[in-house]
Amino acid sequence: MVHFSQLAVSALLCAGYATAALLVDYNATRSDDVAKMGLANLEAARDKPQHGNTADLYIKADNDWKGAKSAHFHRKQGDIRAEYHALRGNTQEGKTYFIGYQFALGSTPDNMMVFQWKEYIANTQGKGQASIPLRLIVKNKTLQLNYDPMLSEGRQTLWSAPIKPKTVYTVALEILAKDAGQGHVRMWLDGKPVTFDTTKSTLLQGNMFPGRSEPKFGIYNGEAVVTDNWVYQVQIGEAKKDLDSKFIS
Ligand SMILES: *[C@@H]1O[C@H](CO)[C@@H](O)[C@H](O)[C@H]1NC(C)=O
Ligand SMILES: *[C@@H]1O[C@H](CO)[C@@H](O)[C@H](O)[C@H]1NC(C)=O
Repeated sequence: MVHFSQLAVSALLCAGYATAALLVDYNATRSDDVAKMGLANLEAARDKPQHGNTADLYIKADNDWKGAKSAHFHRKQGDIRAEYHALRGNTQEGKTYFIGYQFALGSTPDNMMVFQWKEYIANTQGKGQASIPLRLIVKNKTLQLNYDPMLSEGRQTLWSAPIKPKTVYTVALEILAKDAGQGHVRMWLDGKPVTFDTTKSTLLQGNMFPGRSEPKFGIYNGEAVVTDNWVYQVQIGEAKKDLDSKFIS
């Protein structure tokens, strides 16, 4: 006879295998804890971390403007950062990361980043490596994917498209985490690959891992107006097939 506790252990193991494919799997509709995205970074002023939510600056489970469940990133005018830092200390050179991100913005101020592939080691070594190799940023009412090869070379706009408040965007990135021109990036919008303006193809090869780069989601800079980012889903995996088909079809 199979004992109940053995069944329970088997069920746990199965659940473990079923979810092991994704490194991060946040789904607001499923009422997931927002902390599944990683480590919260809240800053009203630069380099002044805030521990815990306040009425002015928070990230919490909340409905969006139409009543849909979301992780609500909120920042009053002047505050600089409400972000989740995912895979902290856990990205590895040579791996490929597939990142799915579904969100909507309350406002679209210039220079507001909604995603960073942020460098954490090489940027402090003074050798000219980029501080943020890749970013999704709002500029002039467009959403742009910017690539920064080196601090001295200036940013390249790989892709841009108009962005409107209170509109849901579904994006995905494939990042091969390598340096010295050996890395690469691809992007999908609404499940379809985008063509980069710079390479005229769906692929850009470059410096995607100067030391150790890691993903961040939410709101950073562009603090001219009060801002909200309602995040519905974040998935990070190491294989394209592990992401939901709405991200990469
Ligand atoms: C998110 O959760 C909802 C509710 O449980 C579910 O119907 C949906 O399939 C989930 N989406 C993904 C991509 O896991
Ligand atoms: C902003 O976008 C408008 C409309 O597309 C365009 O005419 C204008 O040149 C852009 N301004 C800048 C600074 O890029």
